[in-house]
Amino acid sequence: MSEIILNLPSEKATSEFGKKISENLKIGDIIYLSGEMGSGKTTLARSIIKNLLPDDLKNTTVPSPTFTLIQTYNGKNFDIGHADLYRIDNSNELDALGIEDILYNGVVLIEWAEKIKNKLNYNIMEIKISFSEEERIAQIKNIQGWDSRINELSE
Ligand SMILES: Nc1ncnc2c1ncn2[C@@H]1O[C@H](COP(=O)(O)OP(=O)(O)OP(=O)(O)O)[C@@H](O)[C@H]1O
Ligand SMILES: [Mg+2]
Repeated sequence: MSEIILNLPSEKATSEFGKKISENLKIGDIIYLSGEMGSGKTTLARSIIKNLLPDDLKNTTVPSPTFTLIQTYNGKNFDIGHADLYRIDNSNELDALGIEDILYNGVVLIEWAEKIKNKLNYNIMEIKISFSEEERIAQIKNIQGWDSRINELSE
């Protein structure tokens, strides 16, 4: 199956999901994080990043990249880029973030990935979070190269 739906009833559930994702990431992977403002994209990215940092850096602050546009981290095994495209208006600005450079030796998490117009030729998984007062749901979809790994995320 290349699409799964997960319930994220609490922030703890979102953090645990982030940990699971971190265990399945490898160099050259991109994760698209989409969903409305406040849906939990940064919260999920923060957990993924923290789980990839070396033990002595676990307390590093992982801010939202809304204003810096991209933050990079040196993880235990590879680099991590965390981008937020909300304020990006054109493809020149997108290129300037250096996403492809990070992918040589790392992974990139992209909030507001809806803004990317051209298909990037990497392994991409999309996580779309929707929420209401009653619940939060993550829709997880393989775009490229995640088909078999997606199943591990629901276990
Ligand atoms: N189950 C949950 N998973 C994630 N966040 C939750 C959950 N329940 C409550 N929250 C809260 O919802 C908010 C999510 O904010 P977050 O910054 O992660 O959203 P975002 O999608 O990154 O927004 P933006 O589009 O502004 O970047 C946080 O305040 C978080 O504490
Ligand atoms: Mg955010």
